[in-house]
Amino acid sequence: MNEQLINKENLPRHIAIIMDGNGRWAKQKGKLRIFGHENGTKAVRRTVEACARLGVENLTLYAFSTENWKRPKMEVQTLMKLLVSSLKKEMKTLTKNNIRLNAIGNLNALPEKARQELHEVMDKTSENSRMTLTLALSYGSREELKTAVQEIADKVKNNIISKDDIDEKLINNHLYTHNLPDVDLLIRTSGEHRISNFLLWQIAYAELYFTSTLWPDFTEEHLFEAILNYQNRERRFGKTSEQLS
Ligand code: IPE
Ligand code: IPE
Ligand code: MG
Repeated sequence: MNEQLINKENLPRHIAIIMDGNGRWAKQKGKLRIFGHENGTKAVRRTVEACARLGVENLTLYAFSTENWKRPKMEVQTLMKLLVSSLKKEMKTLTKNNIRLNAIGNLNALPEKARQELHEVMDKTSENSRMTLTLALSYGSREELKTAVQEIADKVKNNIISKDDIDEKLINNHLYTHNLPDVDLLIRTSGEHRISNFLLWQIAYAELYFTSTLWPDFTEEHLFEAILNYQNRERRFGKTSEQLS
C-alpha cells in the first residue's frame, strides 16, 4: 500500500482509533498482557507521526475507557505507569512534529502523577499547530453525555439559557470534544466489531473501518490502507448519489 496513492485533498479531517488487541498480541507470543501494552505504544508513535506527515488535522486515540477501571488492579496500575513514561518519552516526538496534545475523559479519575504529567505536556505543546492529538483517558461516551446534560440542566435552572436554546450546537459545546470537528473515519483494530462506549455522538456520520490486525502490529501501511478505503467511499449524509455530483 503506497502513501502516494492517498489523495491529500480528501483526507479525513478527524481520525479516531479504538486501539484494541494488545492483550491477545502478547498472549500469542506467550507473554504477559503488559508486554502487549508496551508494544502498543510503538504503534501509537508510528500512527501519530504518519498522520502528522500526511496532514491529518485531528487524531483521537482511545487509550483507556471508563470500563477499563474494572480490569485487574495490577494491569490498571501498569497502564497508568506506562502512560506517564510514554508522555515523558514522547514529548520530543510531539515537539518535533509540531503536535498539540489534548485529552478527553474524566481526567480527575487518573492518578495524580499521570494527571500532572498530562497537564505538563498539554501546556508545553499548546501552541503547536500541525495536528491535535487527543488521548481519550478514563473516557466513556455515556459519562460525557451525562455530564453535558447536567451542565445544561444547571444553566436552564439558573436562567442562564432557556430550554429553547438547546440545539445540537449547544449540546456539542458541552462535550469534552467541543473544540474538535466530528469524526470522519473511525478505525478499530483486533477484529472486534463494536464501539465500546467511544464518541457515540461524534461518530454519527463517521465512516467505520474494522481490521483484524492487532494494535501492536498496526503500521503506517495499515493506516494508509484505512485512509484509501475511506477515500473510495461515497459519503452521502442522507442525500442521493445524484445530488452529490
Ligand atoms: C487495548 O488492548 C488496550 C486497552 C484497552 C487499554 P486490550 O488490552 O483490550 O487487548 P485485548 O483486547 O485484551 O487483546
Ligand atoms: C476499548 O477496548 C477501549 C480501548 C481501546 C481503550 P476494550 O478492549 O476495553 O473493549 P471491549 O471490552 O472489548 O469492548
Ligand atoms: Mg480489548
